[in-house]
Amino acid sequence: MARCCLPSLLLILAFGLQETRQQAWHEIVLKDHDCGMSSAYDLDGTESDCHGAINGNTSKYMLITRDHQNCIHTKWPDNAPCWWVDMGSVYTLYWIRIYARNNQSTRLTYLRVAVDGHIVFDSGDTGPTIHYKDNNQNNDPYFDITGDGPGISNMPVTGRNLTITRYQATPPDAKNDMFINICEVKVWGM
Ligand SMILES: *[C@@H]1O[C@H](CO)[C@@H](O)[C@H](O)[C@H]1NC(C)=O
Ligand SMILES: *[C@@H]1O[C@H](CO)[C@@H](O)[C@H](O)[C@H]1NC(C)=O
Ligand SMILES: *[C@@H]1O[C@H](CO)[C@@H](O)[C@H](O)[C@H]1NC(C)=O
Repeated sequence: MARCCLPSLLLILAFGLQETRQQAWHEIVLKDHDCGMSSAYDLDGTESDCHGAINGNTSKYMLITRDHQNCIHTKWPDNAPCWWVDMGSVYTLYWIRIYARNNQSTRLTYLRVAVDGHIVFDSGDTGPTIHYKDNNQNNDPYFDITGDGPGISNMPVTGRNLTITRYQATPPDAKNDMFINICEVKVWGM
């Protein structure tokens, strides 16, 4: 009996723990946190601001104006584009969601997401699997990093500084494509 019940008891305990942990996750709101980017695209005299990716607005339409910044855009020539956000404390992240810019899915290849230097995702040459808000292709495109699915999945990950880098363009060296150009980053953890 002990032999058969111990594993199932452990299973129930482990499952229970995971359930509790999931209930304790919450969105860590990144709005107004310290952020930075390696270069900033200049649109009609206004530079892209790193906060455009943490403003709470997931819209796929990029606006870079003095009054409103949605999405972020690095600037050519920047062959090692990087965007980062200081989450304010050390968190264990279970889920990261990145919203893309409309019509710019080729800018999601060779994208690397890391937390305190631990790489949790690398989109490689195929890019990430894109989903759409409410399963409607007219809505905001996004991809999830959860630790399941293809690619590097070192989730959950613990740390404070979340970075997004890009190490190549599609096609290679394309002047018009070597950017980090995304619209929002959201994280859940505890
Ligand atoms: C979100 O951003 C979009 C595109 O920049 C803009 O049209 C919209 O008004 C913004 N929504 C809010 C609530 O600010
Ligand atoms: C860009 O997106 C708009 C709106 O979703 C769509 O109508 C248009 O066909 C797209 N253009 C290209 C080149 O994909
Ligand atoms: C976060 O990491 C990036 C990339 O390594 C670095 O440039 C930036 O200074 C770091 N930010 C903080 C607050 O440590």
